Amino acid sequence: PDSRSSPVSVALVGMPGSGKSALGRRLAQRLDWPFVDLDQAIEDRVGCSIRELFERKGEPFFRDLEQRVIAEFSQGPVASVIATGGGAVLRTENRETLRSGPCVIYLWSTPEALYRRLRHDVKRPLLQVADPLARLRDLYEQRDPLYREVAGSVVDTGRASVNALTRTLHGLL
Ligand code: S3P
Repeated sequence: PDSRSSPVSVALVGMPGSGKSALGRRLAQRLDWPFVDLDQAIEDRVGCSIRELFERKGEPFFRDLEQRVIAEFSQGPVASVIATGGGAVLRTENRETLRSGPCVIYLWSTPEALYRRLRHDVKRPLLQVADPLARLRDLYEQRDPLYREVAGSVVDTGRASVNALTRTLHGLL
């Protein structure tokens, strides 16, 4: 089959709070495609929250599960919009999966803008620290190059409205 004629899934990557889930859901509605939130898929599979999973089993256990769901959904038979977790690009294997399958879009924001959205967050284990802004800056330094490595396009989610951003994402496909 001609791969150009079959629709390819879209994967959204970016930092926590960059809008992957919210914009992914809206884009999927617009395309009338299924929406898959990989963190949600992991929670459904283990039957507890990501935060509880980190507490009970530790981060490496979570990362193994994450790697498995990324591989599964990126190569799925039905074109979908996939919201990844912020750490999805950390493993080389995941970056290879992302580069070789879906159309990947990096939702970019500054650590300061992310902090404004996430400063009251209690769900994200990595941000339950004394200085979440410093943590976001560290994560950003480490990950921004990795998001760019896997993404075909970068969209600034700092200023525009959800509607405008959804249209922009749609226009990239
Ligand atoms: C993580 C981000 C989270 C979730 C987990 C780890 C990370 O997803 O996968 O808490 O390493 O940045 P969001 O990007 O949706 O917050």
